[in-house]
Amino acid sequence: MRKSIIDFQKQKANRDKITMVAAYDYPSARALDEAGVDMILVGDSVAMVLLGHEDTLSVSMEEMLIFTKAVSRAAKNAFILADMPFMSYQSSTYDALQNAAKFMKEGRANGVKLEGGSEFSECIRALSRASIPVIAHIGLTPQSVNAMGGYKVQGKSKEAAKKLIDDAKAVQDAGASMVLMECVPSKLAQKITQILEVPTIGIGAGKHCDGQVLVYHDFLGLHQGFKPKFVRKFANLNPNEGIKAYINAVKSGEFPSEEYSFSLENDEWIEELY
Ligand code: KIV
Repeated sequence: MRKSIIDFQKQKANRDKITMVAAYDYPSARALDEAGVDMILVGDSVAMVLLGHEDTLSVSMEEMLIFTKAVSRAAKNAFILADMPFMSYQSSTYDALQNAAKFMKEGRANGVKLEGGSEFSECIRALSRASIPVIAHIGLTPQSVNAMGGYKVQGKSKEAAKKLIDDAKAVQDAGASMVLMECVPSKLAQKITQILEVPTIGIGAGKHCDGQVLVYHDFLGLHQGFKPKFVRKFANLNPNEGIKAYINAVKSGEFPSEEYSFSLENDEWIEELY
């Protein structure tokens, strides 16, 4: 059965950790769903991980919809969370509603995620009023990389920590179903998790959050690029070895052998053609 935000509230109450993975395509969503992951985030990190952009700002609504549709075709049980891309909700509450509706109606998502705290209370309230579950992403919010001056741990000073707590409370009061914290000191994330009634999900926010999220390609070792401190590689599926073996097998003529080819019982007549 499809997971819902009610299940996640129960998981928080029962201290049963929520598992979330950011993934973008049919095969990875199918593998995650079959393995029993609770939530699949169609993250705007797709801009960097799959589309090769420098940051998450360049991915469009149209592109995010394509990925969301692929994931929702694959996942039968996991909650599908679509990430609102840059400028799909910051421009106005009307735009936020229109774009979130596209994710729900066309993408078949079960909820949306947006980056921001108290300044997006009105937007979160409007989405919640429209029965769209909203997950608010606070702490390091990559869409604000230019304003933040880089990808840095947030909430390091007393004032910054207080602002994060206030943001978490404000988005919960506005109707957010969950709060996702990125790059927040563990102790502060623990405090926020204790204060909030809704579940928290952490990435680089320590072990005390109600759940964790990592990017599929990061924790499976599917790429060899920059590895943030919070990423643990649970597998090393580096494709380089396989690619090299394929190239060598083709060049040497070893592949495809008969095992991988089609033959006719009687094919002598082919020689006689032309
Ligand atoms: O886009 C994404 O993958 C995310 C996670 C890093 C939380 O927002």
